[in-house]
This record gives sequence, C-alpha cells and structure tokens, in this order.
Amino acid sequence: MPVKSRRVSKRGGTSRRDRTPGSVKSPRGAVRSPRGARRSAGTAVRVLVLSGPNLDRLGRREPNVYGSTTLAEIGVALQRLAESLGARVDFRQSNHEGKLIDWISEAADGAADAILINPGALTHTSLAIYDALRGAGLVAVEVHLSNPAARETFRHASLVAPACTGIVAGFGAQSYELALRAVVSRVRGG
Ligand code: DQA
Repeated sequence: MPVKSRRVSKRGGTSRRDRTPGSVKSPRGAVRSPRGARRSAGTAVRVLVLSGPNLDRLGRREPNVYGSTTLAEIGVALQRLAESLGARVDFRQSNHEGKLIDWISEAADGAADAILINPGALTHTSLAIYDALRGAGLVAVEVHLSNPAARETFRHASLVAPACTGIVAGFGAQSYELALRAVVSRVRGG
C-alpha cells in the first residue's frame, strides 16, 4: 500500500520531445500534439495517476461504498493494463492538496502526457486543483469509485470536472481501468 505522498512506480524519461500530450496523428506516423511537439508513434503514453485524500484507506474505508479493493491493488492492475496498452503509469496518492498540485505542475512541465485523477473530497472543494489542471493543458480524466451524482447533494458538484476531458464514475476499482483506456486512446488521437 502506498503511503502518503509516495510514488508507487518509477517515472519514465522526460526528454523534451516526449513531453507534450493531447496528440493527433500527423503524416509519416509521427504524432503531433496540439502544442506542436512531436512524439513518435511507438512511444509509450505516460499517464500520471493521482488519488487524493483518504483514498489510501481503500479496502478499509466504507467498503459498502468504495469496495474492498485496496489502492495498492488498483495500482498493480493499472500497471498491468498500462503495459498491454503500451502506456506507462506513475501511480501516486496524497492526502494533501498542495502535493497533488505540485505533481500536476510536474506533469505540466513535461513529466507526463496525461493525468488521471481521483481528487476524493477535493473534487467538491478545490478551485486550486481546477486551476492546476486547467493550467497544465493536458488530457485529464476525473475518476471516482462511487457515483457522486447518486449520493449526498454536497457531492453533486465537481469543481474539477470543467478542467477535465471527461469523467468516469461509479464502477468501483474498475473506474480507474476504464479511465486509463480512455485517456490513452485520447492522447493517441482517439
Ligand atoms: C470519491 C467520491 C468523493 O465524493 C469522496 O469524497 C471520496 C471518494 C470516489 O472515488 O468515489 O473520497 O472520489
């Protein structure tokens, strides 16, 4: 189980030409991002996967709502799926808003091609995470194990969603896998 603010996997390289996300195919098999940088068609898509407050307690925390799968188990399943998709996942969790924002900034500066984020309760409160994602300009997917729209009214609004390409919610641990498939496909121009 990852501890707070700890990376679960090693990061990939950060060479300049690998950096820009949200790619569309260009002639000659290369991939051209909206910002104009090229990524070779065979290059692994680098996805930063962030989980916010209290998600380190998955498996023990309200299993009737969030299921019995631990965050570490989700991380292992994602690594396996990423391999089959030709992607690389950097899987991290923090209970601290600022830490999540720092990691989004690193992704924005070239450490990742896309972001998958379950902000936990910060979904409903964090203008700062919205700003960070907006500023990053990367393909981003908001993920939830539960379906917040079907729960208490204070969970219905997401401040983060408008900065995201899409949302996957309500499929338990599988939400992360569905979101990874979606984000990798979008970076590749799908
Ligand atoms: C959650 C939903 C949030 O409303 C809640 O605060 C969480 C988990 C989910 O994955 O279902 O911590 O993000």
